[in-house]
Amino acid sequence: MSQVVSYAREAEIALVTIDNPPVNATSHPVRAGLMDAIARAAADDSRALLLVCAGRTFIAGADITEFGKPSQPPSLPDVLDALEALAKPVVVAIHGTALGGGLETAMAGHYRIADARAKLGLPEVKLGLLPGAGGTRRAPRLMGVKPALELMTDGAAISAAAALAAGLIDRIAQGDLLPAALGYARELLAANAAPRPTSAIVPDMEGLDDAWFAARKSALAKSARGRTAPQRIVDALQIGVTLPANEAALRTREMFLEMVSSTESRAMRHLFFAEREAAKLPADCREAPRRAIERVGVLGGGTMGAGIAINFAESGLSVTVLETDDAAAARAMDRIRGTWEAARAKGRLDDAAVAARLSRVEVSTDFGVLAPMDLVVEAVFEDLKVKQDVFRRLDAICRPGAILASNTSYQDLDAIAGVTARPADVIGMHYFSPANVMKLLEVVRGAATSPDVVATVMELARRIGKIPALVGVCYGFVGNRMLQPYAREAQMLLLEGATPARIDSAIESFGMAMGPCAVGDLAGLDIGYKARSARKDRPDDPRWFRIGDLLAEQGRLGQKSGAGFYRYEPGSRERLPDPAVEQLIRAEAARLGVVQRETSAAGIVERLIYAMVNEGCRVLEEGIAQRASDIDLIYANGYGFPVARGGPMMYAQTVGLSAVYEKVLSFREELGPLYWEPSALLARCAKSGEPLP
Ligand code: 3HC
Ligand code: NAI
Repeated sequence: MSQVVSYAREAEIALVTIDNPPVNATSHPVRAGLMDAIARAAADDSRALLLVCAGRTFIAGADITEFGKPSQPPSLPDVLDALEALAKPVVVAIHGTALGGGLETAMAGHYRIADARAKLGLPEVKLGLLPGAGGTRRAPRLMGVKPALELMTDGAAISAAAALAAGLIDRIAQGDLLPAALGYARELLAANAAPRPTSAIVPDMEGLDDAWFAARKSALAKSARGRTAPQRIVDALQIGVTLPANEAALRTREMFLEMVSSTESRAMRHLFFAEREAAKLPADCREAPRRAIERVGVLGGGTMGAGIAINFAESGLSVTVLETDDAAAARAMDRIRGTWEAARAKGRLDDAAVAARLSRVEVSTDFGVLAPMDLVVEAVFEDLKVKQDVFRRLDAICRPGAILASNTSYQDLDAIAGVTARPADVIGMHYFSPANVMKLLEVVRGAATSPDVVATVMELARRIGKIPALVGVCYGFVGNRMLQPYAREAQMLLLEGATPARIDSAIESFGMAMGPCAVGDLAGLDIGYKARSARKDRPDDPRWFRIGDLLAEQGRLGQKSGAGFYRYEPGSRERLPDPAVEQLIRAEAARLGVVQRETSAAGIVERLIYAMVNEGCRVLEEGIAQRASDIDLIYANGYGFPVARGGPMMYAQTVGLSAVYEKVLSFREELGPLYWEPSALLARCAKSGEPLP
């Protein structure tokens, strides 16, 4: 038998075990081994087949590393058709995560039993794919068309209990899975249970005509803008429930292979591996001892501090929020409680869950409460002096070994650490707003941050459900630094005559969640204005963010003042073009002598995105980011960069680095060298054909 699939007998039961660490993906040896095992079970005197997996999980899917390479037979759909066609009952025992091709394998069995902690799902959509091994045919037959479509287009895994209720599994194991599964198989044999092929079930199509499928597709076209997989899933499911099995299988296979070679899927697979790469620690941190983190303090309970506290409490940690006075402390508590009560009102949390979360949060105005904390995250005003002041105070009272973290967006972490007698314990934890929702965490390693502090915070990030990326110190770290040239070019284009709506629409058509002018209005134009005013390294260029500054100086602060780049009716977020802004821009352009020109939508995208990419290359050159894929991860998870393009650095490589480089050179020619010197790394990779590191 194959090395990864073993065949044993438990009396009348053929016990087939897959053992392909780490996650039992259906790599070629697994598929081949399973095919042999099925043939052997068909030929011997066993009366039932029980399929189980060794190790930490049931099959977690097809082997993603095989995608894009020539496929080696047998294909997974063929193996699963053979499994379903076996003339003896096939029982599948599930533990860990049965995902994608894993759940498809389970559905091709005749009876399913799962460990109570198991999770089941069809996450292909998150890889820009559709379930390609019969899932679009079998899931709707087991659970109904609508729930199956939701499972596939949402991509999230469901619990064993939910799977039981939905009809995806037949039983939840009491106690250990293997004996329970063997017991189940024996029971089935004793009852003379017959094979029960899922494909033979007649799906309930009541009310599900062409128009229903078309409506689902157009809804997904809107909610998953820029992605095609969700709509292709609807097509595949419709095929799966309307065409004969063999025809449906053929058509779905073609669609699957088409999706595998799409940019969308390559981009999303790139992000999947980017996330795993980013979690890997630099060599000097791997062996470092970890510090225990249980009690957390958050300094400042404003927008970010409250969100950070919510995140810790939701992850099961106790958190104390420190504010300056009773009124501010009460506001912080209201923010925190309000978030959970809103979730309760929507039915997402029950009373007990709200109470449990609240029991983990305290607010205080007594600095001394931070003394015993394992970790303190500072989220006070974005002002170096204020931050240095609180770090001096933290240094004076926190216990030795406590980690002192700053959520600063732009300040120099080393200058903050430098006021303490323990710079090795200081690190940046740069959250994104809303901090309890956004997955990204830039973990900022200062010049003196010790390896064990880095390792502890990177692991803590995963524990609190974040996607961490380790970055170095510079103005704006990776994400915000790269946003500057992007926003700068948007402002230059305004002066050159492109309207806010035209810039936003071009960049939103490219796939960014929101254009730069709309983002400015949402965040408040005073925020950028203040940050820029504090900069000592402003370029000697009167055009630099001139329009943003002018609007802020005129009190046009964005949505909160009813006017910014756009105007807003009271209580509405709808962006309305404002002739007054356009007039103001024209007058300012004339005053500054900026030549007016037409820029196409594609030209707008190139100006903004290539400015960002060029800066990304500098970030890599300087070692601020460890890998190009870390930058992509940051942009996809923190800045609304379209996942179907894989992040700015993957996008640049899809376009071709030499084409990007040439365009940067032509911008230098046309717009001057002040902002358009190509990064040395970009030049090198463009010329040598090497990928970005
Ligand atoms: N193929 C290849 N490698 C995989 C893999 C897969 N499907 N799933 C995980 N791995 C690898 C990871 O890259 C990682 O490798 P590394 O150690 O070298 O970095 C290792 O397995 C462990 O993975 P994680 O670090 O993610 O481990 P966790 O325990 O945190 O998570 C998991 C486990 C929940 C299974 C998670 O890895 C996961 O979500 N995997 C992807 C599941 C998935 O998308 N399946 C669908 C695949 S597409 C498909 O099945 C098509 C079908 O319809 C034909
Ligand atoms: P905020 O103004 O909403 O909150 C700051 C809070 O800190 C206020 O409630 C204030 O009372 C409190 N505070 C000030 N001095 C204090 C002190 N000495 N002790 C205790 N509390 C004190 O500001 P926001 O937006 O929450 O930002 C906080 C930090 O997070 C800043 O450094 C900011 O750059 C950073 N950040 C902000 C993001 C955002 O989108 N708002 C995103 C990522 C980081």
